[in-house]
Amino acid sequence: MKQYKIAVVPGDGIGPEVLAEGIKVLHKIAQLAGDFSFEFTTFPWGCQYYLEQGKMMDEDGLQKLKKFDAIYLGAVGYPGVPDHISLGELLLKIRKGFDQYVNIRPVKLLNGAPCPLKNISREQIDMIVIRENSEGEYAGAGDWLFKGKPEEVVLQTGVFSRKGTERIIRYAYELARTTGKTLTSISKGNALIYSMVFWDQVFKEVGQEYPDVKTNSYLVDAASMFFVKEPERFQIVVTSNLFGDILTDLGAAIAGGMGLAAGANVNPEGVYPSMFEPIHGSAPDIAGKEIANPLAAIWSVSQMLDHFGYEAWGKKVLAAIEQVMVEANCLTPDMGGTAKTSEVGDRVAAILSGQSSK
Ligand code: NAD
Ligand code: IPM
Ligand code: MN
Repeated sequence: MKQYKIAVVPGDGIGPEVLAEGIKVLHKIAQLAGDFSFEFTTFPWGCQYYLEQGKMMDEDGLQKLKKFDAIYLGAVGYPGVPDHISLGELLLKIRKGFDQYVNIRPVKLLNGAPCPLKNISREQIDMIVIRENSEGEYAGAGDWLFKGKPEEVVLQTGVFSRKGTERIIRYAYELARTTGKTLTSISKGNALIYSMVFWDQVFKEVGQEYPDVKTNSYLVDAASMFFVKEPERFQIVVTSNLFGDILTDLGAAIAGGMGLAAGANVNPEGVYPSMFEPIHGSAPDIAGKEIANPLAAIWSVSQMLDHFGYEAWGKKVLAAIEQVMVEANCLTPDMGGTAKTSEVGDRVAAILSGQSSK
């Protein structure tokens, strides 16, 4: 029997609460499938660990994680530890250290999901955002000069390497080709006169190898407007690290909320483990109240199953998420319900087992 070793990094705030439900679902899938199983190893890294140990993760943390088949991460960051330290030394360290340069973030209005847009059909919101995940605006290059002096200057440099830009754009073209969908590049070449002019040029250059793929290019400001006004314009989207971050919170807002948005951080070559996570943060405003929506964390389980090649099981998990929302009697407060986090996880597991609604 195939056994998958999963490193679990629950992290901070609602991270542990929502991951518990994703793990519940993975156990259920393994039980139903019968021919594969999961072994979970939990790492206590996060802000509490930092306050006790002075570090967000162990020095050899990446070596420890490397031997796993995948990483399942909750959320990182909590008041008391500066965000640029907590995120830089854990979440971003894993994404960059493991060259998880593709961030796959579906923005899809599932059956039963709440949507704040008027007169919208489910088919109109169905995209996959491919976010560059290893460099760009997040490269961490810059300087802080004359700190505290009147002549103080800070520099935050975007780093767009040819290798990094080409590989993410090529990944998106391949996805558009294999799915037969249109590909939209979102950039900002009218103002960012080096990085985004380069991005647009690479998008065109790589596109010559994909004459069969229908493409569009939008400026990020106009794209944000169209995400809300005409989301049906977008199918596969490719964009930079920062734009992808912002656009996918906007995407979450139109497709069920932060409690439903998932993401996969993928190292396509498989040299390093890939990492699966809800895209929301630690939500300090609701942490510990047992009301966090676990559906985003559960959707990321579906992405993990796809990644392992169990697409049929991935689809079943998505269908179970849809059923729980359509039934609408076991949802957390962000979706208008009164259920607890664990009750939603229980219901998803029960649906997978074929149990009908009470
Ligand atoms: P957030 O995503 O944590 O919360 C934004 C809003 O969405 C809050 O009102 C929150 O209650 C709500 N929300 C988020 N997830 C929810 C869920 N599953 N169910 C119900 N409601 C949910 O963003 P923030 O408040 O800007 O950030 C809080 C902390 O998390 C910060 O330290 C930030 O840096 C960090 N953060 C981490 C990640 C990550 O680890 N991937 C992502 C984003 C933010
Ligand atoms: C996300 C988060 C992170 C990002 C932060 C916490 C560094 O917002 O995964 O969307 O910007 O990538
Ligand atoms: Mn984000």
